Amino acid sequence: MPGYPALPEGIAYGGDYNPEQWPEEVWREDVRLMREAGVNLVSLGIFNWSLLEPAEGVYDFGRLDRIVDLLHSCGVMIDLATPTSSPPTWFRTTHPGARLVDREGRVIAGGSRHSFCPSSPEYAAASERIAGRIAARYAGHPAVVMWHVHNEYGWANARCYCETSAKAFRDWLRERHGDVAALNAAWGTTFWGLTYGSFDEVEPPRIAPVGQLTALQLDYARFSVDAHIANFRRERDAIRRFGDQPVTTNFMIPNCEPMDYWRWAGEVDVVSNDHYLDAGRAENHIELAMAADLTRSVAGGRPWMLMEHSTGAVNWQPRNLAKRPGEMRRNSLAHVARGSDSVLFFQWRASRHGAEKFHSAMLPHAGTGSDLWRDVVALGADLRGLAAVRGSRVEAEVALVWDWESYWALELEWRPSVDLRFRERVEAYYEALWREHVTVDFAHPSADLSAYRMVVVPSSYLLTEAAGKNLRRYVEAGGHLVVSYFSGIVDENDAIHPGVHPGALRDVLGLWVEEFHPLPENGTVPVGDGGLTGRIWSERVRLAGARAVHAFTGGPDAGHPAVTRHELGAGTAWYVATALDPAPDHAPFPGSGTAGSSGDTGAGDGGTGTGTGTGGGRDLRAILRAALDLAGVSRPRDLPDTLELVRRGRHLFLFNHGDEPVTVQGVSGTGVFDGAAYTGSATVPAGGVTVVESAGDA
Ligand code: GAL
Repeated sequence: MPGYPALPEGIAYGGDYNPEQWPEEVWREDVRLMREAGVNLVSLGIFNWSLLEPAEGVYDFGRLDRIVDLLHSCGVMIDLATPTSSPPTWFRTTHPGARLVDREGRVIAGGSRHSFCPSSPEYAAASERIAGRIAARYAGHPAVVMWHVHNEYGWANARCYCETSAKAFRDWLRERHGDVAALNAAWGTTFWGLTYGSFDEVEPPRIAPVGQLTALQLDYARFSVDAHIANFRRERDAIRRFGDQPVTTNFMIPNCEPMDYWRWAGEVDVVSNDHYLDAGRAENHIELAMAADLTRSVAGGRPWMLMEHSTGAVNWQPRNLAKRPGEMRRNSLAHVARGSDSVLFFQWRASRHGAEKFHSAMLPHAGTGSDLWRDVVALGADLRGLAAVRGSRVEAEVALVWDWESYWALELEWRPSVDLRFRERVEAYYEALWREHVTVDFAHPSADLSAYRMVVVPSSYLLTEAAGKNLRRYVEAGGHLVVSYFSGIVDENDAIHPGVHPGALRDVLGLWVEEFHPLPENGTVPVGDGGLTGRIWSERVRLAGARAVHAFTGGPDAGHPAVTRHELGAGTAWYVATALDPAPDHAPFPGSGTAGSSGDTGAGDGGTGTGTGTGGGRDLRAILRAALDLAGVSRPRDLPDTLELVRRGRHLFLFNHGDEPVTVQGVSGTGVFDGAAYTGSATVPAGGVTVVESAGDA
């Protein structure tokens, strides 16, 4: 793959290495233990700007030279960082104008990382200079196989509201809108008489008394992403003057809401991602799978790199729960199954000082006598066994639409209900598909969707007219579309599409919505005859070509459609007008029909299946089963939903998240970890992972 790191072994294994926190004699122990664990890649120098440039324009590379050489002598490759997420203390003193200012106008203090303004020209100059210096010195070093620019752009300083940012924003607006009349038209400033006479009158969306222009807030969000991308490009280009190794920066998909990673995707040579579990969340491996699938999709389906995750507890959640036995292994291998060619951690050795001393590491405070260390060594051996996975792809027949702009827009103030949350619906649909053992990609609503049998739009409140047409073309050409409520309502400026709701999707769905009826807090509404339950939302749907599959049987829209289906061209568009839940269901699934057969449609069929509805999934899963069947999406039908199954190239990954062994039929090939010959089935132990490599193409 062009631009892909030339690592010596298959799957990269290691993590952030911060040797500057330790005396040099510890480094030698570090590299010895790295070899023992099978570490082959470390991210080095992420936070050492103040060591490399102790005073402005004064450089000292001695310590970094020694550690780079030591790692090289031990065969550990280096993902060399630029340290620009944590400017030195002197930078704050000599460049007070570069300080970060929050929405309330407070200047954010130092003594931490990320406390700089992303639009600061002084930061731009200083970060470009140090990146260039590092690249000039180390680009020719054989241990440096890739570059790690910055660390988590936008994590703690996504948006700055200082005067420098205000000026940069006005320049950005001139670019985007051309003249102020166009800006006024786009933002709808006649509302409340907020018309601007010139760009110079525009302020960043600082704290306002009440109901601020939402289009202003959206443009500020876009501008802020571009400011970070400009910083990245400047450093990347400085590096490229000296080195041709691939350049990445670690994303935080999907847990850094202000960063639009579709905008970022084309900037890096290889997508890398940091992912931390919400330890207190039940079945958090489903959120992990979603993050990995979204990362792969941002990478355009190409292999990507897991740049950071944790061996055990983090330090920044309310209760930092340690991982359970086997969980680190399952987490790591799940990222690999879903397209990562690396398993890297924050961090190699647990710190003694500072904010993160209670964060787990590969080498914990308890040292090599710990279970955690033994697990780290064992994982290194597992990954060596998976070398052949590297570079292979995950194929998906279903895409979920995800758009950060819609995320931002939906979460602005004064929406019809505070319960309308972008991730709530995306995660509900993702979970339902995950429980159905369907691997999904994510896609931008304007992307070419023709490769997918089914496309799901769980939460696209903001949908441009062009994107609406894209979805219509997809259906007309034979695609199967499933849309959730409150999608296609506004355009890119948060203006309601002309005509009745949902303006961008009326035609493709064959319906219109007369009135929204958000439910009271914890309110529910009955749907259909089979006992489905809606939450959050009800609305008055009027059919205009679609037909009702289920009606609301209670609540404000009793007797009106709740789930509809519209045949359009060669395809079908479904609409779900309330929040159905993915309903965990551990019962064996009835029947094992082949893909595309009528099978168990559960929810009633609107004309295709028989709708047996006996003991299978309920609610959202029932609706999706009907849509999946109609679309001919292939998937196993007889597995419990504690069993996660992902195919990557010739490798089938089976994860058992349950407490009982599970036997999976139809598995043939060689076990990667046990060398066993599987001829028709595999039994995955409770909490275990089995990977089977098939002989030919899967
Ligand atoms: C990441 C960050 C690391 C470390 C880690 C702790 O967001 O990149 O430097 O702070 O979190 O979980």
